[in-house]
Amino acid sequence: MSTGHPLGIDVGGSGIKGAPVDLDAGAFAQKRLRIETPAVSTPEAVCDVIAQIVDHFDEVRSDSPIGVTIPGVVQHGVVKTAANIDKSWIGCDIEKLLEDRLQHDVVVVNDADAAGVGELNYGAAAGHEGLVILTTLGTGIGTAIFNEGVLVPNSELGHIEIDGSDAEPRTASSAKTREDLSYPEWAERLQKYYRALEDLMWPDLFVVGGGISKDSDQFLPLLDIRTPIIPAQLRNKAGIIGAAVLATSAQTRRKQLRGHVTA
Ligand code: BGC
Repeated sequence: MSTGHPLGIDVGGSGIKGAPVDLDAGAFAQKRLRIETPAVSTPEAVCDVIAQIVDHFDEVRSDSPIGVTIPGVVQHGVVKTAANIDKSWIGCDIEKLLEDRLQHDVVVVNDADAAGVGELNYGAAAGHEGLVILTTLGTGIGTAIFNEGVLVPNSELGHIEIDGSDAEPRTASSAKTREDLSYPEWAERLQKYYRALEDLMWPDLFVVGGGISKDSDQFLPLLDIRTPIIPAQLRNKAGIIGAAVLATSAQTRRKQLRGHVTA
């Protein structure tokens, strides 16, 4: 029996990062490895990098499950949208591609869903009941919805329409950088966004992740909304940790299913 840890891998626009995860501690079991995302980030090129990351870790045994995050909708292992990644991802059965290549149990999930699972299990959302929405503010806006701790996958609430257009390009933290907005200027857009979201969803809690959440004291206090809103805690570790959690539970489910089928 292997005692190897599950591996989480986060595929982002600039870097692909992976680490084995200690699920008891909710922490990396070894220092993470980051490799630049290939300039032409097709599924095949990204698979090569993922294979390099898997090979790097001696923690990873043959039956260690691997969780991979993608910045798009992923239904049953197939990528359905690609707002901020190469369009060649759309329609790719990335889970099968990776399982064939790596000979491991692989689960591929939306990046915000994975980060939400990380925060729910070990971070800012731990112990919170009711409806919790995690939003990640980065190049895009990712969202993860949990009701009583259960994930509703692929929510894509970053793309709700505000003032007649997609909220993401005006509200993501990339818009702040691109347009050189001050925190108060950007907070006006965030306020519109979170108000629209709370009117649609009536959550009990918002958790705000993404790299910029480390400066949350600069913008969260400026928001006038009725829902409690708090910064994420696991920062850029959340996706990797959440992916490893999801890969482990999927592997257990698949084993049970195989057991039932052959019983
Ligand atoms: C995508 C989401 C993703 C988010 C954060 C959005 O553009 O549509 O699927 O979670 O970016 O990467």
